[in-house]
Amino acid sequence: MAENSANNIDNLMHEARRFPPADAFAKAAVATGELYEQGEHPVEFWAAQARELLHWQKPFTPERTLDWSEPPFAKWFDDGELNVAYNCLDRHVLAGNGDRVALHWEGEPGDSRSFTYAELTTEVKKAANLLTALGVKQGDRVAIYLPLIPEAVISMLAVARIGAVHSVVFGGFSAESLRSRIDDASAVLVITADGGYRKGKAFPLKPTVDKALEPNADGEDSTVRNVLVVRRTEGEVDWHAGRDLWWHDEIAQVDTEHVAKAFPAENPLFILYTSGTTGKPKGILHSSGGYLTQVAFTHKAVFDLKPEEDVYWSTADVGWITGHSYVVYGPLANGATEVIYEGTPDTPHAGRWWEIVQKYKVSILYAAPTAIRTFMKLGRQIPKEFDLSSLRLLGSVGEPINPEAWVWYRDVIGGGTIPVVDTWWQTETGAIMISALPGVTTLKPGSAQVPIPGIAIDVVDDRFRSTEADQGGLLVVTHPWPSMARGIWGDPDRFVETYWSKFGPTTYFAGDGARRDKDGDIWLLGRVDDVMNVSGHRLSTAEIESALVSHPMVAEAAVVGAADETTGQAVVAFVITRASQADAAAADDASAVLRAHVAEQIGAIARPREVHIVTELPKTRSGKIMRRLLRDVAEGREIGDTTTLADTMVMSVISNTLK
Ligand code: WTA
Repeated sequence: MAENSANNIDNLMHEARRFPPADAFAKAAVATGELYEQGEHPVEFWAAQARELLHWQKPFTPERTLDWSEPPFAKWFDDGELNVAYNCLDRHVLAGNGDRVALHWEGEPGDSRSFTYAELTTEVKKAANLLTALGVKQGDRVAIYLPLIPEAVISMLAVARIGAVHSVVFGGFSAESLRSRIDDASAVLVITADGGYRKGKAFPLKPTVDKALEPNADGEDSTVRNVLVVRRTEGEVDWHAGRDLWWHDEIAQVDTEHVAKAFPAENPLFILYTSGTTGKPKGILHSSGGYLTQVAFTHKAVFDLKPEEDVYWSTADVGWITGHSYVVYGPLANGATEVIYEGTPDTPHAGRWWEIVQKYKVSILYAAPTAIRTFMKLGRQIPKEFDLSSLRLLGSVGEPINPEAWVWYRDVIGGGTIPVVDTWWQTETGAIMISALPGVTTLKPGSAQVPIPGIAIDVVDDRFRSTEADQGGLLVVTHPWPSMARGIWGDPDRFVETYWSKFGPTTYFAGDGARRDKDGDIWLLGRVDDVMNVSGHRLSTAEIESALVSHPMVAEAAVVGAADETTGQAVVAFVITRASQADAAAADDASAVLRAHVAEQIGAIARPREVHIVTELPKTRSGKIMRRLLRDVAEGREIGDTTTLADTMVMSVISNTLK
């Protein structure tokens, strides 16, 4: 039994399709196979990249490339000095590229603004002067709570330019979440807007900030001195004289010149809060020189960036790490032209993304598997109505992408000819760690493939032994890397304990399960906490979801391990079918068919105890399925905290479906 099921899991994960690089693509590719040889000496490799990709006002000395004397607190390029914003802006203007478009911004209602590098540089200089006028100094924390409008990018770069630290809080978070992040970082300033646009409507932001800044339960005020408000929706706002300031009024009064001062490479750049499995969010801290080196390198090599020709679009919001590394810092450090879009993919119509690709002739698109699967569900006729021929590379991030979605992405969006790179990384890693290099790697749908050059990754068992080919294990990083987190803000012990204690202080434990196949390609199996143990057999939610989604009837699936008296855990699946209006009898049939399908694909051990046909899945605003809530339903418990759901009604819809 065990052997059979293991074999079948192998069959599923050993996706047989292979896509070698096209000759023409390989010939012109930014990445070369030699990078891997150079990357075998990571310290020298990253020193070379840092010198080549960035402008250092004071060069670092080779001996100070990496200081790993107090693991897990690394220092990279420690005696070097640079200005992150200068690297993203001024130097491109000085190199003669001031007229190149840096940002094409598309608002949800259809308004748009474009900024050349010269224009963006001026805006950031003004904003830097404004921050200084408001008393913000090097090391101070500034909370940014904005929709995806140009001022979000301008604010982040202005904070970086004066050596302060930003903490971007996603605009969908509640007043309470915002306040706890402001308190944790002792932020002195909040940059917000009256509101933004989402799903065809203006949503207010300023009232949430007002609420967040009210005295807390103990009657304590926040640390915030000023609130800078961008006018976006022209909605009514309450005004706190002396505290609140309009961005447009203030920015009109400052000087347009600003000289970028050099800061040490280890000057903190930002804090970004990310949720752990329990408890309060962790403020992941990143610093300047190492972070910028690795985001610039990966943005160039993984996306095959040709800054003179490409139009790059990452659909992420700046509230998430992808929005930091691959909307702001990576693309702008490389002098790319990029698109940013304020709204949702289906507003005002389901083809909005593809319309944007057509309008700006996007050549590189970086998106999440959830979005791709949503488009699959809607059908190929929608993207077919638009001219997507400008696309030449597709990227995926955030969760395992099942082979079916990967192939659909390549075929329907990419016209069946262009590379798809699946990139694995985390808020904590700062930049991409595992990915194919387009033009070099033969692509395998469903696998994130290999560590990027200069990155050392292993898959190990509980006793820190490298696993054999095709055996599941834990993903670890075994050598420090430049964009690694420098800590958890205010809580160094938690940093050590969460990531650097399982296998000792020099091994980073990512919390993800993985398997390496016979070719050395890595398959991510989901968070370790999403790995189930059924009758002593290890099963991954990702594997079973992949099996479910491979059935033509299935649009989306989420699997949880629910406690089971007999087997320890049991597999419970929640599935959205393509025919979403199915009646109850059809749902019973579908459920039986899918249980059999999983058993057939993976083995009887993986057969879900229950398959529930639902119309919605609970997702966070970043698109991650909240399995914790599904586990509550599956185990018949009261449903836990739903405040981070994008749509808080979803859980009652699901519970009602099951009744
Ligand atoms: C998951 C997002 C499989 C993983 C950049 C990781 C992935 C967590 C992939 C980090 C991928 C991210 N394949 N799983 N390509 N990319 N993940 O911090 O479980 O929002 O630990 O960073 O997302 O999520 P985070």
